[in-house]
Amino acid sequence: MAIHVTTNDQKTTFCIETKNALYQMQADGYGVLKHLWYGAKTDCDMSYLLDYPDVGFSGNIYEAENQRTYSLDTLPLEYAGAGIGDYRISAIDVVHADGSKALDLRYKNYEIRKGKYAITGLPAVYATEDEAETLRIVLKDTATGIEVILLYGVLADLDLITRCAEIRNIGETPAILTKAASLCLDIPHGDWEWVHFYGRHTMERQIERLPLLHGIQESSSVRGTSSHQQNPTVLLCKPDCTETMGECIGAAFVYSGSFQTQIECDQLGQIRLVMGIHPELFRWTLYPGEVFTTPEVMLSYSNTGLETLSHQFHKIIREHVCRGKYQLAERPILINNWEATYFDFNTEKILHIAQEASRLGVDMLVLDDGWFGKRDGDVSGLGDWFVNEDKLVGGLGNLVEKIKAMGLQFGIWFEPEMVSEDSNLYRSHPDWAIRIPGRNPNRSRFQLLLDMTNPDVIDYLYQVMSDILSSADISYVKWDMNRSICDWYTATLSPERQGEMPHRYMLGLYDLLDRLTNAFPDVLFEGCSGGGGRFDAGMLYYCPQIWCSDDTDAYERTKIQYGTSFFYPISTVGSHVSIVPNHQTGRITPIESRAVTAMAGSFGYELDLNVLTHGEKEEVKKQIAQFKAYGSLIHNGKYYRLTNPMTDKEAIWSFVSKDASEVLVQGMLFHTEPNMVRHMVCLRGLSPKKKYQLSGTEMVYTGAALMNGGILLPKAWGDYTPVSMYLTEIV
Ligand code: GLA
Repeated sequence: MAIHVTTNDQKTTFCIETKNALYQMQADGYGVLKHLWYGAKTDCDMSYLLDYPDVGFSGNIYEAENQRTYSLDTLPLEYAGAGIGDYRISAIDVVHADGSKALDLRYKNYEIRKGKYAITGLPAVYATEDEAETLRIVLKDTATGIEVILLYGVLADLDLITRCAEIRNIGETPAILTKAASLCLDIPHGDWEWVHFYGRHTMERQIERLPLLHGIQESSSVRGTSSHQQNPTVLLCKPDCTETMGECIGAAFVYSGSFQTQIECDQLGQIRLVMGIHPELFRWTLYPGEVFTTPEVMLSYSNTGLETLSHQFHKIIREHVCRGKYQLAERPILINNWEATYFDFNTEKILHIAQEASRLGVDMLVLDDGWFGKRDGDVSGLGDWFVNEDKLVGGLGNLVEKIKAMGLQFGIWFEPEMVSEDSNLYRSHPDWAIRIPGRNPNRSRFQLLLDMTNPDVIDYLYQVMSDILSSADISYVKWDMNRSICDWYTATLSPERQGEMPHRYMLGLYDLLDRLTNAFPDVLFEGCSGGGGRFDAGMLYYCPQIWCSDDTDAYERTKIQYGTSFFYPISTVGSHVSIVPNHQTGRITPIESRAVTAMAGSFGYELDLNVLTHGEKEEVKKQIAQFKAYGSLIHNGKYYRLTNPMTDKEAIWSFVSKDASEVLVQGMLFHTEPNMVRHMVCLRGLSPKKKYQLSGTEMVYTGAALMNGGILLPKAWGDYTPVSMYLTEIV
């Protein structure tokens, strides 16, 4: 196996080489670990780029004696401690037993291992022994027994470096961690912009690209989930970086709780990116001998634009984060009853929906919210994961049998982390709900959260969910989470450890997910949080797909899915055709446009197909046949963002097979105009010399023509005209 992690002869400079990038750091004579480079390969020691300016009010370490130019405040550092004269954002902050807050980390030793490290209890990138290497660099505080081990997982072929930190207390007194970031990346030179993904419920992952202002810019969540409002991913790019050219760096947090991404442009114009658990909701006591390991960040670099970076992340997440039977398998086309019935259903209604779905070719029926406890609306029932036999007469087994007899698989909805006050669970275990004694808890959608730090809660949920999953032939679980978290308090922790609760909540959640996904390896788990409120690589480790948004409006979805595509692979995006006028926006879009948008994901339907006209039903049959034909190309091919729906007049994307022998171009033209010239779009990723025939026509083009001259899109007729063109190589 090729070695991608090397050191110089003095063992002070560390190089990580991936396919197209070089990452370099160096421990100097004072033991300070400086960051030298993350960028294109240079075959050179990059320390020549370090400058040592004499900057007023940037102090010097004591050992530097009368050198005014050696300052932790101006040097690029690999993992910055707080309180020691580096006034930029820190990566780690510790309160020691004497109340002081400082951490001066100096290099101690290193180790290179085969394979990729794992993190107990947390999701992380995985790889075989031969696919990866791990670099461990041990740093130690100069005055206390705090050691920080920086872990670098290297998947060189995928241009991926993962980072996390293991913080050990090898001293004799307790210490309190008040910040422990996963990534600290200093970039001392160059102009950079940043891209983050913001939004709200039903409008997730809107893209925003901004110049870096002096000072700190932030994208974060304190909601206890990664959130609809900001996504735990970030891009840094050079101002001239486009889809197809220029330098960019992407960082994605493998975590589903509160997070903070901060970027500081300091007094000298140098950039520092810090990403990790949000410190506002984090205070972790480390007793002597204890270790805290941060979640990890995935880091990738491209100097051929954002498209390459997205392809790298798509491959990493699909092949090294997602797991299980469905990781690479074709996903069932499902029909979900939520928008068809909301809470108002019974066995008969569901069978009626299933019957038509089966006739038209759907693979699976998913029974959404409302099948359990007293759940006829959103005010009651959560926590009572027992079938409501008034609604489902004959029980779940009876329903599932009938659905299976129609040739459909069956899936079911849970919202495990929640409890309604009007529920048997709450009446028997009010202490399991999260609330601060003496205060009224905040209610959201009328519900409270279960204390996922309490092992009894986890055991209970494991038991009731296992019982349901074993009670009938269930092939899919939709794991929902419909509120943000506050009122942090748990009786399971002593007062001084309450600050551990938000992270311990995540550990409890991951533990439950782990136990259930292991116990039911044949079940496809889909994540959800009011749509895409917990769309992150952490959840994707357990659930290979996530319901992308509660907004099923095809036009809006082109924007949401565009933002989602920068990091997350198409197979992870749960996406359905729904009824018009759309339930979230009232917009009317053609059924063909709803389908092409939903096909850029894990495809399904979310309506009662019985209400469609004969013509529409024939169209649904065609769509299903299309997704069966193109599904593998869509999920295994490379995805290209051919237009930007935020600014362009159309949303067009394509999927190109690995050997560039086929391409599917899909999307929609937003608005029509009279006497308009047909729009054109240039394709990418084809082979210039190959000849491609447009399916259903005699038209043949060379790859070079399609990539340079482009292809004409269909004539717009009405708004939201669908586009779906399939081209294959002819020899
Ligand atoms: C959330 C989900 C929806 C649906 C409802 C049910 O909003 O995102 O798809 O499951 O909950 O209450």
